[in-house]
Amino acid sequence: MIKYLNDCREYLQNNKFSKIYLLVDENTEKYCLPILVEQVEDIVGCCLLEVKAGEDSKSIKVVEDLCRTMIEDGADRNSAIISLGGGVITDLGGFVSSIFKRGIQNINIPTTLLAMVDASVGGKTGINLDGYKNQIGTFNFSSLVFYDYKFLDTLAPLQILNGMAEMIKIALIKDELLWDKMQKNEVYDKQMIEHCINHKQQIVDDDKTEQGQRKILNFGHTIGHAIESMYLTHHQEMLHGEAVANGMFYAIKLSENKQDFPHGKAKLICDYLQKTYNIIDIKPHLNEIYPFLVADKKNKDGHNLFVLLKDIANPIIDCPIVYDDLLNISL
Ligand SMILES: NC(=O)c1ccc[n+]([C@@H]2O[C@H](COP(=O)([O-])OP(=O)(O)OC[C@H]3O[C@@H](n4cnc5c(N)ncnc54)[C@H](O)[C@@H]3O)[C@@H](O)[C@H]2O)c1
Repeated sequence: MIKYLNDCREYLQNNKFSKIYLLVDENTEKYCLPILVEQVEDIVGCCLLEVKAGEDSKSIKVVEDLCRTMIEDGADRNSAIISLGGGVITDLGGFVSSIFKRGIQNINIPTTLLAMVDASVGGKTGINLDGYKNQIGTFNFSSLVFYDYKFLDTLAPLQILNGMAEMIKIALIKDELLWDKMQKNEVYDKQMIEHCINHKQQIVDDDKTEQGQRKILNFGHTIGHAIESMYLTHHQEMLHGEAVANGMFYAIKLSENKQDFPHGKAKLICDYLQKTYNIIDIKPHLNEIYPFLVADKKNKDGHNLFVLLKDIANPIIDCPIVYDDLLNISL
């Protein structure tokens, strides 16, 4: 059941935390904190932890700084962190709360579309190392999530597209009707967002630590993460959603070649992705991208394992893909 922001007030009143730390970046402090204060007045006395907006904050150095600040402030095991922000903040706050004093309560208040439908749901936390995405992380199932769609009003249009990519992913792996609706409408609505949250929650509940079916959520993420990492090493940023859109584009091409995914549907999906996102030609970058694929967390016994589709809403996990398969796909 989805919990809304005004439920957070009651939750905090019922749980007498010794200290509450509110993790924000400069944008969520400016745009989202006032909305939170309006609904949850008790938040006013919290200690504010502010980090820089952006992926660079998902680092060991920032984790250390946050832990040090909390220790100096006298935080104990009955303290809690509220992560108010996008996926960077929920990943970082979730990670710190899972390791601080061996674990304290974490509360996510997602403020981007991507964090609402994906990053804040499912207990995965992560930080980056040496340009490799999410190499260090934990499962943090103590996380609670509270939603308020008002946060989306101040989000840049690019960030909406960023979140839409994860909604497209959920539709393609789980819900053909939702995909049809997304394809026809340029905009999302609250009901579509909640469908995605519920689908993700159900997938996670059935396989919390990703031993089997939870892997379907990695659709589009193998090549997506590799492209994102390639950009990071060039000190450039490709938005996670845009990278995932690229990953889905190429995963659909691989699905046509390896799983007989219907060509007509493949064309519609790829056209839609190309119309909506900047899909790069991976061929000239394959040598650069491939080492990131080799380092992918999901690999087993030296094999690159992809999620491919037999059809919409019919995902196949653990499909081995070799370098030559990548040579056979193109824009
Ligand atoms: N743990 C998971 O399961 C999971 C899943 C998907 C993505 N992620 C991670 O999420 C991260 C990306 O998340 P993101 O796209 O939300 O990025 P983000 O957290 O960097 O937010 C994007 C930008 O929007 C700003 N912002 C946030 N909320 C705002 C609001 N309401 N109004 C105005 N500006 C606002 C932020 O300050 C930032 O500049 C990546 O690090 C990715 O690895 C994690």
